[in-house]
Amino acid sequence: MEFLEFKNHPNWGISHEENELKAIWREITKSKKFRNSVSEEQIRKIITELNFHKPIQYITEEAVFGPFILNVTPSVLIPRPETEELCFIIHQRINGDFNGNFIDIGTGSGAIAIYLKWKFPTATVNAIDISPSALQVAKRNAVQQQLFISFFQEDYLHSNIIEEIQADIVVSNPPYIAEFEKANMDANVLEYEPQSALFPENKNPLTFYQKIATDALKTKTPPRFIFLELNPLLAEETASLFESKYKVEIIPDLQMKKRFLVAELL
Ligand SMILES: C[S@@+](CC[C@H](N)C(=O)[O-])C[C@H]1O[C@@H](n2cnc3c(N)ncnc32)[C@H](O)[C@@H]1O
Repeated sequence: MEFLEFKNHPNWGISHEENELKAIWREITKSKKFRNSVSEEQIRKIITELNFHKPIQYITEEAVFGPFILNVTPSVLIPRPETEELCFIIHQRINGDFNGNFIDIGTGSGAIAIYLKWKFPTATVNAIDISPSALQVAKRNAVQQQLFISFFQEDYLHSNIIEEIQADIVVSNPPYIAEFEKANMDANVLEYEPQSALFPENKNPLTFYQKIATDALKTKTPPRFIFLELNPLLAEETASLFESKYKVEIIPDLQMKKRFLVAELL
């Protein structure tokens, strides 16, 4: 029965490569950049770029995140499905009428901040990034979605923003990849995505988590919740940074990797 169903599928008998090509072509021709026309010269350029592992999102200059189609440039990380999962977890845990202060640390394309303002319209959403060019993209995305977000261009590792804005909820998908992990990374990520979004400047993959923990533990009004995307190799070490003051949970992603941390003030 199942076999027969597969045989009736329009893609039956088409090779994996052909299917992939169809999917790529669909992405290209429905994008804002190419949907009205795509010249032969552009097609040649696209093929060359794909051969050199350029991510399709940087070619079309857009990426899907939840219900949004966001602008992306090589200055920002392409938002990942895991980060959509993080947003979904926040949405499950926090009431929709929350009217406090969120901070999104390392906002990149603004994906998380935009999702938060959409789901929590009465909340104040703040977003910080060190990169002026990433912030330009994030601001453009927020304007396009007609969502008001306060953006800050600052080095979080030397900032006091959690205390200054008295953040109630901290959210972050920070740079967390260790140098030794480079060997197993795909060329499309390593060669095209911003290094500063992937690897912490001081080569310590815990550095952002340590700073968030220090800030949360020392401030007079500690954040009620902290939601983090994790390096699965360092999930327990990250959790231990918060345990003196927070009830900490590690949540797996859909691939069963220890990907998210939820900390609730005790
Ligand atoms: C892993 S990316 C996350 C981007 C986006 N939040 C997402 O989930 O798709 C990390 C972001 O942190 C920013 N970043 C790196 N170092 C930073 C620092 N010291 N202070 C603030 N932001 C920083 C990078 O520019 C990058 O946009």
